[in-house]
Amino acid sequence: MVEEKKVLQEVTMEKITSLCKRKGFIFPACEIYGGLANAYSYGPYGAELKKNIKELWWKKFVQNRVDMVGMDGPILLHPKLWEASGHTTGFNDAMVDCKKCKKRFRADHLVEELTGKDLEGQLDEMTNILRDEKLKCPECGQSDWTKARNINMMFKTDMNGITESLYLRPETAGAIFVDFKNIVDSMRVKVPFGIAQIGKAFRNEIVARNFIFRLREFEQMEIEYFIDPEIKWEPLFDNWLELQEEFIMELGAKKENLRRFEHAKEKLSHYSRKTVDIEYKFPFGFSELFGLAHRGDFDLTQHTKFSNEKLEYFDAQNNRRYTPHVIEPTFGLDRTILVALLAAYTEEKVKNDTRVVMKFPKKIAPVKVAILPLSKKKPLSDSAKEIFENLSSEFVCEYDQTQSIGKRYRRQDEIGTPYCVTIDFDSLEDKKVTVRDRDTMEQERIQIAKLKDYLREKLNS
Ligand code: GAP
Repeated sequence: MVEEKKVLQEVTMEKITSLCKRKGFIFPACEIYGGLANAYSYGPYGAELKKNIKELWWKKFVQNRVDMVGMDGPILLHPKLWEASGHTTGFNDAMVDCKKCKKRFRADHLVEELTGKDLEGQLDEMTNILRDEKLKCPECGQSDWTKARNINMMFKTDMNGITESLYLRPETAGAIFVDFKNIVDSMRVKVPFGIAQIGKAFRNEIVARNFIFRLREFEQMEIEYFIDPEIKWEPLFDNWLELQEEFIMELGAKKENLRRFEHAKEKLSHYSRKTVDIEYKFPFGFSELFGLAHRGDFDLTQHTKFSNEKLEYFDAQNNRRYTPHVIEPTFGLDRTILVALLAAYTEEKVKNDTRVVMKFPKKIAPVKVAILPLSKKKPLSDSAKEIFENLSSEFVCEYDQTQSIGKRYRRQDEIGTPYCVTIDFDSLEDKKVTVRDRDTMEQERIQIAKLKDYLREKLNS
């Protein structure tokens, strides 16, 4: 029988952060040493969720498309790459310190919150506003500011002291551009085609905040899509925007929580024809989730200039040689995970109880099936273990034999397990088990012999 359900309050960042820690999704890293500012570890369920999201992305944008190839480049790349891309000189954030409490802030963010003005790059203006308007420090309430100044966001490192100015990559894209020639020469790709990559990126953010929204070490899923400079690029650009939105909606986001923010023409880099952010309505407001940029031939031309290696494409059919333009859809993986968590979080009133249930789309749920024997004793436990072994060869399963069945159902609801399989004493006689559906809470008796097929069909529906 389906119990009556009523959806309760909205999700907050506090609720998600707390559930993630309590339930093994995401923990503050190095807690036993007092933590490291805004560094997080993905726990067992978080790691599964992340893996499932990466797999879906790869399947949608690489495996299922004839015009895409994947790659996996290094985090440490040649320092000249970052000179060519402009990161060494231009990848800066404006910071300001409170002289009283020594806390550091993003100067542009403080000014924007105060005046609503976007003063990107105008350091003197920022300093004047902070001082003239006597903006209070959000930490200590005093108003005594240093000058606003730029800080480069790349993490510097070195290679046995031999190579100076080595950086941890601040985006994955660079690794794609420097392998453009290798891919064109080895893969028989034809423009238009894209190169996709998933991997870590590092940015020395002045203020990392909002849980996994802004991190110093994070993951990106990026595509460089190379096109003929002479084609009409607008339909392709629009199509990528739709695909980016489609992807996040496949993970549970609702359309009404998404919006597009097009960068003003006068704010665009000289080489960009159009840049659009896809924003999500996070509990702290609409903020960037993904980005899409038309980057012209800037990257390939710059790398040609700095490496002396021609990065061109030969169109044999039309006997034309040219430098392709590029459209760059970029997806932050940790922000995607945060959206999947926020969208899944549901509190329901069920009879006199409240249940928290993570209504993940089944394909990304960390655990697909929970095996719950009603008793720890043989022969029931043997039968349950046999079922676990059979199912876990195909689905991620969890075996749980402790506490009452009601508590075990709630535990699985909280981690978003779509199906619970209960083995009871009747199972030994009638060779059937009870399968409970996470969302409807309906229960069905299914023959053990048909269980795997039944679950496969349900999980793929
Ligand atoms: N290659 C283009 C590029 O890196 P970006 O807008 O700087 O563009 C792309 O970053 C995406 O990476 C963002 O849309 C966001 O999802 C994610 N991202 C950027 N900085 C991040 C941070 N500090 N923490 C987590 N995700 C971040």
